[in-house]
Amino acid sequence: MTAANFAASSPDRTVARVRLRPTMTSDLEFVLSLEQDTENLAFITPWERTQHEAAIRFPDFRHFIIEGGPGLDAVGFLILIGCRSQNQSLELKRMVVSAKGSGFGRAALRVAKKVAFDDLGAHRLWLDLKARNTRAKALYDGEGFVVEGQLREAVKVSDGFESLIVMSMLRPEFTGRRSLGLEMFA
Ligand SMILES: CC(C)(COP(=O)(O)OP(=O)(O)OC[C@H]1O[C@@H](n2cnc3c(N)ncnc32)[C@H](O)[C@@H]1OP(=O)(O)O)[C@@H](O)C(=O)NCCC(=O)NCCS
Repeated sequence: MTAANFAASSPDRTVARVRLRPTMTSDLEFVLSLEQDTENLAFITPWERTQHEAAIRFPDFRHFIIEGGPGLDAVGFLILIGCRSQNQSLELKRMVVSAKGSGFGRAALRVAKKVAFDDLGAHRLWLDLKARNTRAKALYDGEGFVVEGQLREAVKVSDGFESLIVMSMLRPEFTGRRSLGLEMFA
């Protein structure tokens, strides 16, 4: 698969420049270290190396490195699953960026939506997030994802159980946003 390279900008806000490229085995130290960063551990369930290795190979998965900044360095990763789903329902399984609050998350999400709907034929793109993940919630709200509901106390955490919020975007919602100039890339 070729890299998806977009300098994203839109009428609503300026979006950082990012590029997605397929993750390689040699990237996995970076991926695993990001997952193990305490800043991220509270919001994700880290995988074993073998799970990432499988995700790189398995055709139903797309495992991407997010490259950004002036030198297009690796700034994060994201994983799409269900890419061969008969229901055309894809999941944004995980997205993590290293330099938070720099716009890389929003820009990468824009590219991920384009890949899902334009390249992979998604009808529905969904995700879940921990209820306490206010930063991710603000991002997904702002990028047009709709709350479907909660999986109540679905995840065991150190101080008890935490609920998961399920959010999704449907193709007509994506095309509607695009027609409003909210999904544009320069
Ligand atoms: C969630 C994550 C991917 C977002 O990426 P990011 O690059 O930090 O986010 P951006 O800089 O693109 O900001 C996007 C929006 O997030 C929200 N946001 C950013 N920082 C925030 C903060 N400290 N508090 C609350 N909301 C915040 C804002 O709505 C922001 O939009 P704005 O800049 O137009 O106001 C990233 O923070 C991350 O890796 N978090 C840890 C792992 C994780 O939670 N992954 C998602 C699991 S579902």
